[in-house]
Amino acid sequence: MSDRLLAGKKVLLGVTGGIAAYKAADLASKLAQAGAQVDVIMTEAATRFVAPLTFSAVSGRAARVDMWSEPAGEAIPHVRLGTLADLAIVAPLSANTLAKLALGLADNLLSATLLACVAPLVLAPAMESHMWLNPLTQAHAEALRARGAVLVGPGSGHLASGASGVGRMAEPAEILAAARLLLAQGGPLAGRQVLVTAGGTQEPLDPVRYITNASSGKMGVALAEAARDLGGRAVLVHAPLSVALPYGVQSVPVGSAVEMRDAVLSRLAETDILIGAAAVADYRPAEVRAQKIKKEAGDLTLRLMRNPDILGEVAACRREAPRLRAVIGFAAETQDLRANAAAKLAAKQLDIIVANDVTEAGSGFGADDNRVTLLYREGGEESLPLMHKSEVARRVLEAALPLLA
Ligand code: CTP
Repeated sequence: MSDRLLAGKKVLLGVTGGIAAYKAADLASKLAQAGAQVDVIMTEAATRFVAPLTFSAVSGRAARVDMWSEPAGEAIPHVRLGTLADLAIVAPLSANTLAKLALGLADNLLSATLLACVAPLVLAPAMESHMWLNPLTQAHAEALRARGAVLVGPGSGHLASGASGVGRMAEPAEILAAARLLLAQGGPLAGRQVLVTAGGTQEPLDPVRYITNASSGKMGVALAEAARDLGGRAVLVHAPLSVALPYGVQSVPVGSAVEMRDAVLSRLAETDILIGAAAVADYRPAEVRAQKIKKEAGDLTLRLMRNPDILGEVAACRREAPRLRAVIGFAAETQDLRANAAAKLAAKQLDIIVANDVTEAGSGFGADDNRVTLLYREGGEESLPLMHKSEVARRVLEAALPLLA
């Protein structure tokens, strides 16, 4: 799937000598699939592990190795590739190339190109533990970090030598996520905090039981990812999720509605946009037993009490949150969608409400897609077609951008 951040971007992928070079082929493939134009430069050592042909095949562009064998007439490749790149990644990064980059050496096509490169740089070191832990390597890594390079990994685990320890290259998905984070910097939400609530709250009955609902948390996660991709600081206050936590998003795990309320209110002063995508339980058991409830003859009656309305409480203390410019709620309805949503927009003093009919097949709870209508405080509404939740998330945030002005 084409990716808004990577589509059309010129990405320089440096591959140095190491077993993990085979994983770099997967990274090159992922970058190309995301729509990036990927130029691969391998060191001589890297070609001992994987053939340049592999990278040419997955990137659709000739992989380069040698500084001296460029086609005649082509502009100096190391200058051209370096200066035109939107982003540079070196994965795997050997101890040798890491040292060269830190010292500014330029003795092969990759190091020369990176010396001429002004693009953001993502480095994924991979080497034996002793080499990585050597103070010289650490000093070089620190020097590169201080100059703005983003180091991903290395992680711990099985190493080529058979030993186990730190030095494994980060997984391609993680390197890709770091690259996307770097590309998002300077987006329209730069310097803004977007707090999103997600998931279905869990209201305890006893130490092992709780009342909850069918929310997957997908919509909230998609909103946090969209905020991150627009350059914002995304904070996800979430009940247990059935999807993975996104990279580059601050996770604040909570259980019950009361915990979620406290987590939201304590962060309100630094928040610019608040989006309530959580399915907050309206009621909680009035009594939480300290011990597991034992079955007895006859039925069990539970008494439930009202939970706080999180967005309602936010409305009540908005004056104490000077940065807060947009409060957005969701209305999951099974009937009278517009009327119910409009009533919640007014009652919770929201700026925007995202209304969806949860009875529609393929939309809403647990689904990957959603069909929503945005209703605005100022009046007016916008009905969006059925689309992927990531696209819905993007549209919701775009609708909030004018409120930040
Ligand atoms: N919400 C909240 N606190 C609650 C309940 C809901 O902040 N205790 C938020 C949700 O995150 C959502 C919006 O309010 O953004 C609407 O949630 P919904 O459950 O549809 O509305 P309710 O106010 O609970 O009304 P009802 O259940 O009666 O439809």
